[in-house]
Amino acid sequence: TPGIPDIVSAEFNADPYSAYRIMRSEAPLIWHEPMQSYIVSRYEDVQRAFKDEVFTTANYDWQLEPVHGRTILQLSGREHAVRRALVAPAFRGGELRDKFRPVIERNARELIDEFREDGSVDLVSQFATHFPINVIVDMLGLDKSDHDRFHKWYTSIIAFLGNLTQDPDVMADGLRTREEFAEYMIPIIRERRENPGDDLLSALCRAEIDGTSMSDDDIKAFCSLLLAAGGETTDKALAAMFANLLSHPDQLEAVREDRSLIPKAFAETLRYSPPVHMIMRQPSEDVVFSGGEVPAGSTVTCLIGAANRDPERYADPDSFDIFREEIDASTAFTAAAGHLAFALGRHFCVGALLAETEVEVAANMLLDAMPDARLSADYSAEEKGVFTRGPADVPVEFTPRSA
Ligand code: HEM
Repeated sequence: TPGIPDIVSAEFNADPYSAYRIMRSEAPLIWHEPMQSYIVSRYEDVQRAFKDEVFTTANYDWQLEPVHGRTILQLSGREHAVRRALVAPAFRGGELRDKFRPVIERNARELIDEFREDGSVDLVSQFATHFPINVIVDMLGLDKSDHDRFHKWYTSIIAFLGNLTQDPDVMADGLRTREEFAEYMIPIIRERRENPGDDLLSALCRAEIDGTSMSDDDIKAFCSLLLAAGGETTDKALAAMFANLLSHPDQLEAVREDRSLIPKAFAETLRYSPPVHMIMRQPSEDVVFSGGEVPAGSTVTCLIGAANRDPERYADPDSFDIFREEIDASTAFTAAAGHLAFALGRHFCVGALLAETEVEVAANMLLDAMPDARLSADYSAEEKGVFTRGPADVPVEFTPRSA
């Protein structure tokens, strides 16, 4: 389409938001030949694809299944609901607060202790890329000293998912990850069945669906989904929130003074700079979007990053404003929050409250440890990724508390 750089080009990666603007106004429905997918960018169209029951996640059969195995993301109807219900309680209010909040706090403290005396830190490489994955690994009762392996695995899974150009190296790496992860997890799952504990993996081993427990493979697939879905996303959300606040010192000051504003800062970050920029869907019958008709069975790429800045939905959409009216931070972890970063409908992110709790705990501790945090002069302001997207770095300087 004239004026819009190809979604898989370096130009698009450097500044997707300018392209999104033209797409929304001039080309709200695009057919992308290499991706074999339609692309929608307006809020109303993306919202519809998430909510309307005509759309399924069948695309994950080829986008995720080869690397993950079969997970709740691919399922629909009762099959989906029953399996989703197995993990959902662990991510809801009561259990999260009582059992996992201390785990979250401990993990944040461990990482901050590494740099609290230093006076400078890159919040991406020294905090965000470690924190959420450590939390999930702890929740599952796995070994955190294997962090580097988990990080490599989830990065490779997300790369497979976002492999828009079907790069064979990325595919091969994803399939290798599937093998490595299975080799690592299956013996642990078997052992955990014999010696269950108080962790989420034991709960999955104990869980029964219609009187039958899940197979080792099913449990392994679930763990890989939790690592990938909860690792890279929260990692990028946390880094983006700090990048956004540090670039708007007046809003940072407001949050520092009144910590009850953290959920607002998080919710506006998810609107303004969502970690997941695109999600695919397939309609089971012909569907009419604002830009035209899409036939049954085709793939539709929904641009969350574009929809979240639709001027029809948000006033002054390209400015970061934690006080904006369209976002309801009191429900930042529910579908009513007013942005599309967690999707909507039956696949709405099951980990949204966990993500919010992690961000809230980490932000409080980071603000306490770095009372005068400011961006350092070598901040690149660069963001990376078109499928998932986040700051390349967030280098910060501060006066150590003890100094
Ligand atoms: C689903 C985003 C954190 C676990 C999703 C979906 C999105 C999303 C967009 C929908 C995918 C689709 O419909 O195709 C995010 C963002 C996060 C985050 C932006 C952080 C800010 C987490 C965390 C976990 C998690 C911490 C838990 C470990 C899941 C799972 C699903 C999911 C299991 C599948 C739900 C289903 O299919 O029913 N997430 N997520 N997410 N998320 Fe998250």
